[in-house]
Amino acid sequence: MDKRTSYIEIKQEQAIKDGVICVCKQVSERKIRKAVRDGNKKFIAVKQATEAASGCGLCQPFVEDIITDELSKKAK
Ligand code: FES
Repeated sequence: MDKRTSYIEIKQEQAIKDGVICVCKQVSERKIRKAVRDGNKKFIAVKQATEAASGCGLCQPFVEDIITDELSKKAK
């Protein structure tokens, strides 16, 4: 395994441990939930507030799910 591959693996393991949803921008689930609680109710607003999903974009569905979940908590 070359150095770059092992570096990426270490980073990915760390990201999972820290609850990082967006690997590109290192944004955690906690940060996304906080942004929603701070009044960012739409995906685009959360994206601007946290930078989540502003890299490769692959995490967008997960970010959207977290926003939906956080908003449903609020409604209860
Ligand atoms: S993982 Fe979030 S933009 Fe790439």
